[in-house]
Amino acid sequence: MLTDKFGRHISYLRLAVTDRCNLRCKYCMPAHGIDIVDRAELLTYKEMYRIIRVLSELGVNKVRLTGGEPFVRKNFINFLESLTFNDKLDQINITTNGALISKYIPKLEELNINAINLSIDTLQAEKFKKITRRDVFKETLQTLEKLLASKLDLKVNVVVQPGINTDEIFDFINLTKNKDLVVRFIEEMPFNGKGLRQTDEIWNYDKIYSEIEKKFKNIIPLKNKRSSTSKIFTIDNYKGSFGIIPAFTRTICNDCNRIRITATGMFKNCLFDEGVFNLRDFMRKGVSDDELKQIFIDTVHNKPENGFIAEANRKSKTISESMSTIGG
Ligand code: GTP
Ligand code: 5AD
Ligand code: SF4
Repeated sequence: MLTDKFGRHISYLRLAVTDRCNLRCKYCMPAHGIDIVDRAELLTYKEMYRIIRVLSELGVNKVRLTGGEPFVRKNFINFLESLTFNDKLDQINITTNGALISKYIPKLEELNINAINLSIDTLQAEKFKKITRRDVFKETLQTLEKLLASKLDLKVNVVVQPGINTDEIFDFINLTKNKDLVVRFIEEMPFNGKGLRQTDEIWNYDKIYSEIEKKFKNIIPLKNKRSSTSKIFTIDNYKGSFGIIPAFTRTICNDCNRIRITATGMFKNCLFDEGVFNLRDFMRKGVSDDELKQIFIDTVHNKPENGFIAEANRKSKTISESMSTIGG
């Protein structure tokens, strides 16, 4: 079992299958993109499969595949299919921007993928182009509609960007009136390749909640799943629900159950650490499964208490990675 020194059990792996992305969202990377790594530096699917198998033998039962955009990597669907043979996994989930995936939805259903978290920060075509610097609003919306009609659970992720999409918070909540989905508003973090964006307004959890309260008087808190990143609510009589993710104010660390592995095999105990162990190089030395297990056990033991401590422990004090290399 993977347990840290604060008694938290680790059961959820977030694995970035690529650092590449088909979009260029402003809160994630600069216009010219990020310096993507050489293909040889990426973990192979075989390596990823092994990592997941070994971790699942240590109690990890939920895997989220992220990127970059996971569907940008060649043969991603085949990799997903191979993972479904691991019967120690209760949940295989994907976080995606959706632009490339509408044609794969029947296949994802067939593979019994549990849930899709779809990133879409605006319901307006022109604004979508501004935020993502790409013209694929139509494709993304089509994916949203197809996902709603599918048996896959759906969460929509909205990064709250001051002066850009805060005027759409109500529209996003209205989306939950007749549709069975969860819309989650995320505090923006400085993982955009440059650091914290200059803004006069801070849209943190409290501000997002009080904005929603201005319009909706009948907000009902729902029971949160253990170790969830979001606090969730519904509006009385609405079919769907909404949540707020205090990603930057980090009030969710107490029962954190997550570890991360980046596309290059960097092991991260916390979203805010700078990577604590290079798994790829370790594995490429030819280590045994038992050696791999021991390194996971020892590394997780040192998981920092919370995201603020992880940040304070960084050698480089400023955060400037792109979310695309971390995997979210
Ligand atoms: P579920 O498994 O459906 O609850 O999804 P999730 O919220 O764990 O994952 P998703 O990829 O949809 O991430 C949503 C947002 O939460 C992103 O902005 C992530 O960076 C952020 N997030 C995910 N895990 C953590 C975490 O451990 N700490 C912090 N601070 N933010 C996180
Ligand atoms: N701050 C908050 N969330 C971000 N994401 C990407 N970059 C940031 C950021 N700087 C979100 C994406 C996706 C999830 C994995 O992380 O929108 O939904
Ligand atoms: Fe876990 Fe770090 Fe996120 Fe806190 S900030 S919930 S410790 S990953």
